[in-house]
Amino acid sequence: MPDFDALFSAAARVQPRAYAPYSRFRVGAALMADDGAIYAGCNVENAAYPVGSCAEAGAISAMIAGGGRSIRALLVLGEGEALVTPCGACRQRIREFAAPETPVAIAGPEGIRAWFSLEALLPASFGPDNLPG
Ligand code: THU
Repeated sequence: MPDFDALFSAAARVQPRAYAPYSRFRVGAALMADDGAIYAGCNVENAAYPVGSCAEAGAISAMIAGGGRSIRALLVLGEGEALVTPCGACRQRIREFAAPETPVAIAGPEGIRAWFSLEALLPASFGPDNLPG
């Protein structure tokens, strides 16, 4: 089982650094990669609203730049009462680097609130294996 305490700490470290002046909703994400390292990211918004990027996208970029190639586990940390589950686009971004059984933990400030498999979040997904060759 991946070390979700370490993922929570990594996400909590970057969440306050989120650039979210428009939504004021700060999100941190952290993932454990195949190289054993933890990579984190936060949301970065933009005055041109659709150009903003999610915390998960930042964590994936950090993984690729850092030399990781696949996701073993991922945690998303948000604020408020509702579960901060990844948006649809990020589910597909995660799918590129994770297997359907990969665990995704959703946390609030007090700790982990729920676990999902990627398959539960994105059933019957289209991934790299669906392409020929
Ligand atoms: N957001 C994330 O970064 N990750 C999620 O899983 C949900 C939403 C960001 C996008 C935007 O900057 C803000 O939260 C409000 O939607």
